[in-house]
Amino acid sequence: MCGIVGYIGDKDINSVLMAGLWRLEYRGYDSSGVASVLDGDLEVRKVKGRLMNLQKILAERPLSGTLGIGHTRWATHGEPSDQNAHPQVDCKNSIAVVHNGIIENYYTLKEELIKKKHFFKSNTDTEIIAHLIEENYNGSLKESVLKTVSRLQGSYAIAAICTAEPDKIIVYRYGSPLIVGIGNKENLIASDIPALLDHTKNIVIMNDGELGIIKRDKVEFYNNEGKKIEKEKKKITWSAESLEKEGFPHYMLKEIHEQADIIDTNIKLRIREKDFDFGENFHFSPQELANLSHIIIQACGTSWHAGYVGKYLFEDFARIRTEIDISSEFRYRNPIMGGELLVMAITQSGETADTLAGLREAKAKFLKILSLVNVQGSTIARESDSTIYLNAGPEIGVASTKAYTSQLFQLYILSLYLSKLKWTLDDSEINKKIKEIKALPKKMKKILEKENEIKKIAKKFKDAKDFMFVGRGINYPSALEGALKLKEISYIHATGYPAGEMKHGPIALISEGSPVVAIATKSSVYDKMLSNIEELRSRKAKVIVIGTQGDDIIKKLGSEVFYIPECEENLSPILVSIPLQLFAYHIAVLNGRDVDRPRNLAKSVTVE
Ligand code: F6R
Repeated sequence: MCGIVGYIGDKDINSVLMAGLWRLEYRGYDSSGVASVLDGDLEVRKVKGRLMNLQKILAERPLSGTLGIGHTRWATHGEPSDQNAHPQVDCKNSIAVVHNGIIENYYTLKEELIKKKHFFKSNTDTEIIAHLIEENYNGSLKESVLKTVSRLQGSYAIAAICTAEPDKIIVYRYGSPLIVGIGNKENLIASDIPALLDHTKNIVIMNDGELGIIKRDKVEFYNNEGKKIEKEKKKITWSAESLEKEGFPHYMLKEIHEQADIIDTNIKLRIREKDFDFGENFHFSPQELANLSHIIIQACGTSWHAGYVGKYLFEDFARIRTEIDISSEFRYRNPIMGGELLVMAITQSGETADTLAGLREAKAKFLKILSLVNVQGSTIARESDSTIYLNAGPEIGVASTKAYTSQLFQLYILSLYLSKLKWTLDDSEINKKIKEIKALPKKMKKILEKENEIKKIAKKFKDAKDFMFVGRGINYPSALEGALKLKEISYIHATGYPAGEMKHGPIALISEGSPVVAIATKSSVYDKMLSNIEELRSRKAKVIVIGTQGDDIIKKLGSEVFYIPECEENLSPILVSIPLQLFAYHIAVLNGRDVDRPRNLAKSVTVE
């Protein structure tokens, strides 16, 4: 939600800021802006709409100077407009601020500042920060920012520049991500790693309550009492090339096609000759895990769907009672947390506000926390007792695809590990499953090779107004995920249901021609699915079936059938997800949607 960037150095400020904003566009794209200081003047360019609008403005009226900040916005307070775009400035046009987060007490502060004769030009919560810095300024931007943040409630990552101190950017973090990139005679700041990768792989991750002074030749960090602190540099392993579309028309399609290789890489990392290996951030002892009696998984959106699959896995393989909760519910409920409990957070970004809040709730109760995270060094990864990384590379498309299948993979491997520790599966059963896992990448590739089949089905259904997705057992969450993928990128209504629930209400929605995607792969609930499909057919629904290769019965029942290769039932959600992703993708493209930047959405949801 909102991306901020900043640069100080000798490169052209316009192109560096713009390139950084393009990399962060997934965080919000309803307006954008940049600012720089030169010779005592503050220059600001900002505009409503997509980043292209800002690029056009900068082509006509570029910024000058060697230091600047930029912002791409996902509106919270104030509609998308030129005035509400960041940077926001003070009364004298001498201080500019960009902000990611929400200032909860902005109304009170605004009233107070208006009484002190500050003049407001926008409806944003951010503008109060610029005015407060102005109010508190006494010759030091650093001191003024520290004074200002002591008044703010909410979450924020901010970057500020001012005409009186044209050699520095001041940054402060509380609750929203902020990273500093360390270069050679140049330094950068950004909300997320992709904006830095073209310039450096050396980063410093800021923690809550820390302030940074970013100059051309050095960076310094302070705690919120103004005391200097030393911070550790980290090296990022992602490459700048991984941020390109590599010939695909959209990031989403590229990321769908990367999935087989990602699973292949993870197989090599996680499955060792005699054991499993969850990487250097996994610190739980086998004994601790063997004693587990209860798992609560909390996550949002697609990551929640992965967690739902995890529930089936942990219960089926490791016989551990597992609850699954949406983080925004989990954080406000009062779950019973007795016994040997593990709380899991699943998240691609590692920054989702509700998931982070859920993690902190659990931490406050002294519970063990394990997270499954994609983004290296993200807040959730750092605040968990142990982290299993997804190793999916940067996911840029707003709709999550490759992170999801890697989440499913990690959960599967973890459930095998737990079942080994708990003796609920013997070695020969585990080895059989490992063999199945190793065959996955090939099977995934086979599905991807049949993309055209899915495209043809999508063409037939592109004008439908409503879809139902149904599945049972471990593929019930797949139905939820299929429906979410479709609605978020095509804006077509879609609902996921457990197939057995249809007759308890939703089947009333079915009439002649209603499209229903049914997941009916060979499984312990296959026969039940067939009956559910028959019920739908009797109401003249058009059933698009995802079935197992070689299943001729399904051919007779479905209006359309897409086959996936045979596989172990609990692994099937990984294979099933690919045709569902491709189906959503092609329907969206055929409807002319902007699949990588769906309306109203942002990739990293860092506000509640
Ligand atoms: C859907 C999607 C979202 C995210 C959700 C959680 O395609 O991407 O539903 O899954 O916002 O995000 P993370 O996984 O970053 O916590």
